Amino acid sequence: MNYYLLFLLMALARASPYGALQAACASMTPGHGFNPQNGTSPFIVMPLTSEIIQNSLVPIGLSSITSDYFKGFFIMAFSDNSSKPIGKFSIDVDGQSMSCFNGMDNAATHLINDDKSFVMLNWMPPYDFVGSVHFRTTFVKNMSHYWVSIKSDPVEVIQFFMPSSAAHFSSNSSLGLALLIFIVGMI
Ligand SMILES: *[C@@H]1O[C@H](CO)[C@@H](O)[C@H](O)[C@H]1NC(C)=O
Ligand SMILES: *[C@@H]1O[C@H](CO)[C@@H](O)[C@H](O)[C@H]1NC(C)=O
Ligand SMILES: *[C@@H]1O[C@H](CO)[C@@H](O)[C@H](O)[C@H]1NC(C)=O
Ligand SMILES: *[C@@H]1O[C@H](CO)[C@@H](O)[C@H](O)[C@H]1NC(C)=O
Repeated sequence: MNYYLLFLLMALARASPYGALQAACASMTPGHGFNPQNGTSPFIVMPLTSEIIQNSLVPIGLSSITSDYFKGFFIMAFSDNSSKPIGKFSIDVDGQSMSCFNGMDNAATHLINDDKSFVMLNWMPPYDFVGSVHFRTTFVKNMSHYWVSIKSDPVEVIQFFMPSSAAHFSSNSSLGLALLIFIVGMI
């Protein structure tokens, strides 16, 4: 990589308007030098499902529940057992994925600090992960007002069982039909 590009990337990474800094990985704070708000957050992190089959995406909404806007956000996913973020985020507009603790895309942050009332993103569990996860999000309203590590409701990532009786389905028309409808419905 040429040095000019490297310098440019470093300069961009330092500029908070373009998303959270690497330092936010550990603290989940924006590092503006103000204390976090202790009151109820006007912003919530909302998985759009409470249960998902392993190896599939969890859609997540970051939403204002008042008339307030947020400018910045920083989100990570945790299993109940682990203090390290897990899985990968993808986000089309309003944000970018970010890599923390030598992971890959295991966090997400805003792209520009304009006013937002709702942001959609997706999270993919680690390959074959099964268990309970929750999301933690820091919302930044402005330089002095931010809410740290707001916790979501849990999402259960459940195992996909390939029915062992699949061979019998051809001899059981109602169950076979139900499975066919299920499979076609998923495509
Ligand atoms: C929140 O509580 C902590 C600990 O009591 C305090 O240090 C901090 O100043 C409080 N934040 C605000 C914005 O008042
Ligand atoms: C997580 O913890 C539960 C109980 O505390 C345990 O049964 C489970 O095996 C653990 N999962 C992992 C991946 O460590
Ligand atoms: C930041 O947000 C707080 C809470 O809504 C508000 O009272 C304050 O005036 C805002 N500060 C700036 C600089 O806009
Ligand atoms: C086929 O369906 C019947 C009910 O119509 C059920 O009693 C039976 O257990 C099913 N067979 C298999 C192999 O699932």
